[in-house]
Amino acid sequence: MSTSQGPLRNVAVILAGGTGQRMGMAIPKQLVKVAGKPIMEHTLQVFQSAPQIDEIIIAMAPGFAAEAAEIVARSGCTKVSRVIEGGATRTETTMRAIDAVAATGGAEVNVLFHDAVRPFIDHHIIQDCVQALERYEAVDVAIPSADTIITVDDYRGTVIKGVPRRDLLRRGQTPQCFRLSTIRDAYRLAMADPDFTAGRISATDDCSIVLRYLPDVPIFVVPGSEQNMKVTHPVDVFLADKLFQLSSHNPPPPGTLDDYTARLTGKTIAIFGGSYGIGADIAELARSFGARVFTFSRSTTGTHVENPADIETALAKAHGETGRIDYVVNTAGVLRTGRLDETDAAVIEESLRINYLAPVTIARAALTYLRQTKGQLLLYTSSSYTRGRAGYSLYSSAKAATVNLTQALADEWIEDGVRVNCINPERTATPMRSRAFGEEPAGTLLSSRDVALTSIDVLISDLNGHIIDIRRQDPLSGDAPTPQGAS
Ligand code: CTP
Repeated sequence: MSTSQGPLRNVAVILAGGTGQRMGMAIPKQLVKVAGKPIMEHTLQVFQSAPQIDEIIIAMAPGFAAEAAEIVARSGCTKVSRVIEGGATRTETTMRAIDAVAATGGAEVNVLFHDAVRPFIDHHIIQDCVQALERYEAVDVAIPSADTIITVDDYRGTVIKGVPRRDLLRRGQTPQCFRLSTIRDAYRLAMADPDFTAGRISATDDCSIVLRYLPDVPIFVVPGSEQNMKVTHPVDVFLADKLFQLSSHNPPPPGTLDDYTARLTGKTIAIFGGSYGIGADIAELARSFGARVFTFSRSTTGTHVENPADIETALAKAHGETGRIDYVVNTAGVLRTGRLDETDAAVIEESLRINYLAPVTIARAALTYLRQTKGQLLLYTSSSYTRGRAGYSLYSSAKAATVNLTQALADEWIEDGVRVNCINPERTATPMRSRAFGEEPAGTLLSSRDVALTSIDVLISDLNGHIIDIRRQDPLSGDAPTPQGAS
């Protein structure tokens, strides 16, 4: 809706007032870490980076305001205007948030209530909600139900009462979005209803309040997504971690030339394995954007990436010449294929040293420097990491270990302000790959320059603890390793 002053402001309310009893942990579930960050930090960052959102209010579980403030400060969520205390029930939390929004002057705004524990909300859903709010005063987000839903006789649920038509059922998610005046009116009427105030009518969401008390207001339904799950039970933490790991993260949106130059001018990048392929392309691009780049490899500088002394020397050189190191990138890798029982001991050792010991060694040496600049370590994995298969035991298991290392370090280094991410490129045209597999059909491989540019997008982003998939085009085609080779 537009007013004479222009479009309405969009205020996101992050509902984090619960304690997560079904999760059964010592801290509220919104503070549990997945992929290196508390769940609500992932959620906040989606709203922070959504262009439609003007302001964010957090309704936090009592006693945890300091944790919320720390997350806001650390993640640079500049749109957060206030952290208020949540109520004893979700409904109470919503009402407090409505008062907080209304207290800012009484102007009409759109309010988007979102569960802090749905970290997979995406920009499309937010955009669809905001667009729907131009025509509707109330908007819900829901997905079809894959399961048949039954109704039962009472709370014990021992006898079926009915089986509603599944094609007319949807599973409600969030955001639930309203014109401020609409949701205020609905709650005002609810509070005047003795059945509601006495708890005889329970509501686990806000659309049901509008539906009951303002039945003439149509509530538009925007399609949600299966990923937009609510972390509720312990198994959901495991699933959320896997979703972050596997379905991964889309690359951040590409920057403009000005962004790259502004962010990289005067920065120092140390690249291991930078003599050819992805590493060389990152070096060339970053130099063109104004960064001071140092590349190290066996062939050019005699640097053995698995050797701690070589890494120390390399990083000391970059730091000695520029006084800082902002980014450390490791693209070095070897791809040896074949049955394990037929592989030479020396080849096994080389493979493990370069593909796994090197990231560990580089990480250990890099922290001292990256801590000073609040910088980033960027590692590389392969789509084969998700599942081991014949012929790739050494390569893909080391790449799986690299993913795990990324997540562990991202978590460990939060307090140092150092970020760690891992790029998962689909099969990429690199010299390493053509040595292993010969020439492959044109158009079936990513260009190493594309991977390099996305790597730079990740370096200048705020991401931490992410495994970023880079695919050629069809987002559904890429993740599983194909029989022809590994990426
Ligand atoms: N919520 C809230 N205030 C409450 C209760 C819940 O803001 N008093 C929020 C939760 O923090 C969560 C969302 O509402 O983001 C969804 O609720 P639910 O999954 O039920 O969360 P909890 O109440 O924390 O979990 P449980 O029911 O297992 O205790």
